[in-house]
Amino acid sequence: MKNIRIYKEKDYESVSRRAATLISAQVISKPDSILGLATGSSPIGAYHQLAAWCQKGDVDFSLITSVNLDEYVGLAPDNSASYHYFMKKNFYSNININMQNTHLPDGYTSELQDACKHYDSLIQKLGGIDLQLLGIGNNGHIGFNEPGDNFILGTHIVNLTESTIKANSRLFDKEEDVPRQAITMGIGNIFQAEKIVLIACGHGKADALCRALTGPVTPEVPASILQLHKNLTIVADEEALYGFPEDSRFSLWIY
Ligand code: GLP
Repeated sequence: MKNIRIYKEKDYESVSRRAATLISAQVISKPDSILGLATGSSPIGAYHQLAAWCQKGDVDFSLITSVNLDEYVGLAPDNSASYHYFMKKNFYSNININMQNTHLPDGYTSELQDACKHYDSLIQKLGGIDLQLLGIGNNGHIGFNEPGDNFILGTHIVNLTESTIKANSRLFDKEEDVPRQAITMGIGNIFQAEKIVLIACGHGKADALCRALTGPVTPEVPASILQLHKNLTIVADEEALYGFPEDSRFSLWIY
């Protein structure tokens, strides 16, 4: 049984190109795909590669709809640390997507519970996600689904862990500025995607990736549920796969 494909790439540039290739294949094969998108440093290179191909006319995003994984609570969309801002800067403004078809959870409303419900029904109305792009947190989180006692199905508000606040503080002036809460798609929203592509780069991700793919399926490592997904592709560099065991469940494609 080989249900997890792993591309082992030599560095961040090749990881980005590989991930961009997988996303462009999705867009070419289904031009009106629903793409689940992620933020963080992991996907930036892939977004830039896709934008370059789009500007050459090789990928067309005009019919694509995107739904992002998450957003901080309390940051206005024009705050340069918000995920709304990130997506515009690193992707949307460089491709021919219709901005009306781009969606992120609303972390800036005072009605956060309504925003969660709205996001779940939006995903449902769209008919689900065709391809979900993911990064992975150092503690095994996906989106902002932090380690906990149970997997949470739908979009929800989460209290960020100290380790996530610390890791993400590099994108803020100081650690105190990092919001303590976020709104995130749940594990159910992510798991229901037809395909999942997870990007992991650097030594810092090796432990989380290994625990997620070879350890027990547990909400203490939220990404571990991906082991059960029917169509999971990992695109990782050598550092993130350092010490990764041989396992019959994995088809490892080394480049
Ligand atoms: C944040 C995001 C995640 C992302 C993670 C890792 O917490 N909410 O979606 O996967 O950071 O980020 P990076 O790719 O910068 O390591």
